[in-house]
Amino acid sequence: MESKNAAYIARAKEILAQMTLEEKVAQMVQVPYAMVGREEALRWAKLGAGSFLHVLGDDAREVQQAACSTRLGIPVIFGIDAVRGHALNDHATVFPTQLACACTWDREIAREMGRVTAREVATDGLHWTFSPLLCLSRDTRWGRVNETFGEDPYLTGELAAAIIEGYQGDSLDDEESILACAKHYYAYGEAVGARDACDSEITYRKAREVFLPPFKKAVDAGCASFMTAYGSIDGTPLTIDRHSLKDILRDEMGFEGFVVTDWDNMSSLVKQQFVAEDTDEAARLAAEAGNDMIMTSVAFYDSAVKLVREGRLDEAVIDEAVLHILTIKAKMGLFEHPEKKGRPGCFGCAEHMDAALRTAQRSITLLRNDGVLPIAPSCKKIAVIGANADDVRAQYGDWTYFTHPLPDPDHVPVRPYTTIREGVEELAKAKGASCVYARGCGPIASDEDDLPSAVEAAKGADVIVYVVGDVVSQVGEGKDRADLSLSGRQTELFRQLRALNIPLVTVLCASKPLAMGDAAEQADAVVVAFNGGATGGKAVAQALFGEINPSGRLPISFPRHSGQVPVYYNQLPGWHKLVDKQKYCDLPETPLYVFGEGLSYTDFAYENMTFDPQTMKASVQVSNTGARAGLETVQVYFRDLVSSVMTPVKNLIAYKQVELAPGETKTVEIKLERMDFALVNRREERVVEPGEFMLMVGHSSKDADLLTVKFAL
Ligand code: BGC
Repeated sequence: MESKNAAYIARAKEILAQMTLEEKVAQMVQVPYAMVGREEALRWAKLGAGSFLHVLGDDAREVQQAACSTRLGIPVIFGIDAVRGHALNDHATVFPTQLACACTWDREIAREMGRVTAREVATDGLHWTFSPLLCLSRDTRWGRVNETFGEDPYLTGELAAAIIEGYQGDSLDDEESILACAKHYYAYGEAVGARDACDSEITYRKAREVFLPPFKKAVDAGCASFMTAYGSIDGTPLTIDRHSLKDILRDEMGFEGFVVTDWDNMSSLVKQQFVAEDTDEAARLAAEAGNDMIMTSVAFYDSAVKLVREGRLDEAVIDEAVLHILTIKAKMGLFEHPEKKGRPGCFGCAEHMDAALRTAQRSITLLRNDGVLPIAPSCKKIAVIGANADDVRAQYGDWTYFTHPLPDPDHVPVRPYTTIREGVEELAKAKGASCVYARGCGPIASDEDDLPSAVEAAKGADVIVYVVGDVVSQVGEGKDRADLSLSGRQTELFRQLRALNIPLVTVLCASKPLAMGDAAEQADAVVVAFNGGATGGKAVAQALFGEINPSGRLPISFPRHSGQVPVYYNQLPGWHKLVDKQKYCDLPETPLYVFGEGLSYTDFAYENMTFDPQTMKASVQVSNTGARAGLETVQVYFRDLVSSVMTPVKNLIAYKQVELAPGETKTVEIKLERMDFALVNRREERVVEPGEFMLMVGHSSKDADLLTVKFAL
């Protein structure tokens, strides 16, 4: 492997030696095709631009031909936000969001999602996805929670590594492999007040403890590229943070790929972050900090050429960046085959739709059930209520061809897909029950809202399925929410439906945890689906009717109220709990639903937990005490009982999934490593401090769900 890598580097060096300064700087430019238009894009290709983003099909082919017919013929790499399947293409398979995928806690599911996505992206002739997103969603007011794997560094790192392996396959040179991009490096989700692209008030120690570990796993998984975050840490924009981009990412973590900025990061140093006087200074700072490729700020080209000519920027900085880019191009075999072929005919094929359905099914998370679910065979009439039950845009969420400004906001949804209403109608019919649907209201109050008709429609039903959530205009960049309660008239409608005294199931079809209030606390059952993609509605219906046994576990905590956030589980301990041992005098401090939580149609029991600090082996007996086969996620947490710095009340360090038949007991063994028990001390070193620890194993991060054992290291 080493020698192969050396061969790629040698090849890149050979090309670099032939390049003019202009050609080198052009390699560092990533051109936004849709923004500059065809003519300008072709001009850039002839100048030798290294990459283009957001260009599909024949347009991409034309750009590639232009690039290949230049003096050195260096092919471009095409990047696209294929963040949940290749969903910006209207015929591709639309997967659930990353957050929904995280509910599965299943590395294999994540790997498969990556593999299918890669195949479809490659079939479109493209090379690179800007995925996965490794920021943590600790303050859920943030608009991009749906794009994350949730709030926990360990789970995020595990799923990220798996999806990267899926994207990149065994070799970047493979016809069905694409480059992954770990973004946004780092702590982007931690901005003050969850205000997108603002400052994160953290220290480097905190970064090493919480925010960097998932990125380290991405490096170890061989991730070919990293994207620099928009934000800043303690006042230093990541774009100019050489310590993070060089010392930590390259020297400590051993990253060997290339770094691309996020959209216009270079220009925002001047226009929004006010750390550079002009474009020239911004170009110099961004290059010197270690950004190899500059996304969309094409002014970098003129500035960088001028800076080098005037002796204000060392050409060695440019050489190093270009070497990183060319090495990856060589590794991809791009010089031999500039255009990926993929697998013609694979868009939305049965195999890929099955993979999307599996992900959606496994993502369904049951949070409350008074016995109303699964819907009984005796049920003759089902009322499905709520706009999100029949709104494919809400079900998809953002970053798809018709829910994102790119490439065309007027796109209409392309079949096949199944909304929740359609899924329930189909299964109800198969079971001889009738189904009525009424929109009632949606997340955004509108003239279409008609609560009385919805209540009327629900009368006489044996069960009401009430679907609540958010819509795309409440999700994404710059769409942070101060208020996480159900918007519009959704709570009002819930109360009117509840007053009918009919068994009532609330289904959440949303981008993130909302503070559902009565709609969760007064419902007979609560099902979380997040954004399930094309097959999401089918998966929800199958769970409601018991065709599948829900096995999702929350990768993120649900607040009772917006004022509680951040409410993530792995907080540092605190004191002054004056009122009823709670932090707030008007609300419990606990979340409504906590990280790791999730029910099923069977029950699991834990017994006989042991841990041997010598061998680092934990073991526990898990039994299925119910009447249905089920999948349990055995979760392992620890706490350092006395340490030089405060450490979280618990931290996830491992988990294992186990299938259990009714009545079956299995002994689950989990091998841990000594370094799993590490902390980051005040000198920013990751160390295990000798002393007492507590190991906790069980069904969720709730104390009541965990068996514990104390031990010393
Ligand atoms: C987003 C990135 C995305 C990039 C390219 C930016 O606005 O922050 O996540 O990959 O655009 O579309």
